[in-house]
Amino acid sequence: MENIIDWLKENLSEERFVHSISTAKTAKKLAKEFGEDENKAELAGLLHDCAKEIPYEEMKKIIKEEHLDIDEDEIKAKKVLHAPLSAHLAKKIFDVTDDEILSAIRFHTIGKIGMTTLEKIIYLADKIEPETRVEPYFEELRKELKKTNSLDKTLLLSSQMTIKSLVDRNLPINYKTIEVYNYLLNQ
Ligand SMILES: [Fe+2]
Ligand SMILES: [Fe+2]
Repeated sequence: MENIIDWLKENLSEERFVHSISTAKTAKKLAKEFGEDENKAELAGLLHDCAKEIPYEEMKKIIKEEHLDIDEDEIKAKKVLHAPLSAHLAKKIFDVTDDEILSAIRFHTIGKIGMTTLEKIIYLADKIEPETRVEPYFEELRKELKKTNSLDKTLLLSSQMTIKSLVDRNLPINYKTIEVYNYLLNQ
């Protein structure tokens, strides 16, 4: 894990580095609370944004050259494309072979139907880590988790707030975001 931390320090901005370390810590803590593997959670948290600072054009080039299985809609979604790319780098640079870890990294931005506990933990740790997530939206999520002690309920609130905010700002909503919202609603 030491070499990963060194790599992140070298390749990410100061703020993203702090965010990554804090996400790992938060994920580890949540894993302990919710009976997940703490080491897996910590590693997935550390690496979840490792590709985030690769320029968009470069990301598209990697996807093409390495024949990554990412559909067109996802490739168009600039803001979330770093998730599958980070999973790819985790495998390629850091030899992470555990599919649960790779999947938690892969789906940390929009989630998916039928999320595992580890996937839920990374999704939420990314949003509630206390070092860089200071806006009211994140505070709401921390409060919800504390109040309900439920990953599912907190994920649902996150999904609801995201969709409301997209509507308020006249922004398009990816159909996957709606799918995940419907899934969470039925949990
Ligand atoms: Fe991310
Ligand atoms: Fe993140």
